[in-house]
Amino acid sequence: MSSTEVKTLRVVVLISGSGSNLQALIDGVANGDLPIEIAAVISNRPDVLGLTRATNAGIPTAVLDHKGFASREAFDQELMRTIDAYNPGLVVLAGFMRILTAEFTQHYLGRMINIHPSLLPKFQGLHTHQRAIDAGESHHGVTVHFVTAELDGGPAIVQALVPVLASDDASLLAKRVQRQEHVIYPLAVKWFAQGDLKMQDGKAELKGELLPACGYQIEANEP
Ligand code: GRF
Repeated sequence: MSSTEVKTLRVVVLISGSGSNLQALIDGVANGDLPIEIAAVISNRPDVLGLTRATNAGIPTAVLDHKGFASREAFDQELMRTIDAYNPGLVVLAGFMRILTAEFTQHYLGRMINIHPSLLPKFQGLHTHQRAIDAGESHHGVTVHFVTAELDGGPAIVQALVPVLASDDASLLAKRVQRQEHVIYPLAVKWFAQGDLKMQDGKAELKGELLPACGYQIEANEP
């Protein structure tokens, strides 16, 4: 197949906040590096910066406020309907701050990815930067992984390692980790869009090779 025949992957991005990872994807599309179409951006919170970023890039947006639903199940059902109306090949969770039902994760199994600011399986959940400092870790970082029913537990795709400096506090460390998020999230999306990345039998595969449990690891190239 020539490059002109490669089908553009339709992607729906879910956000809850500032959307800096969304912006990295928007920029990747704009500079011709990412063979995807961001079909829609959906937020569970109104008035967040990520929605403005999407609108500025001409991407359709939808807001589905979880507060308007009686249960997690009811919200996830409506979210599935909203996402599927855009017919995506990949769902990208980019700072989407919701615990997902098993039915939702099963529906998108192998075609939904998340970014989590730690070297999983270390520091699942919240406040990861402070926890890494408190634990005296020499390295912290960020992981892109396929989403399964287990929170922050699906197979890792790629990790960026960030050294923890003696001068770090949680916010300084978070900034350096975020810089790496904006490198590895577009990379993982590109691999998926090119057909190089798959989830098979609960494991992540890159170019036909099983990835190690930590995913493909890169060291942060820090100034
Ligand atoms: C990132 O730190 C990401 O790792 C976490 O949520 C944050 C989202 O940031 N899952 P942004 O909205 O992409 O700026």
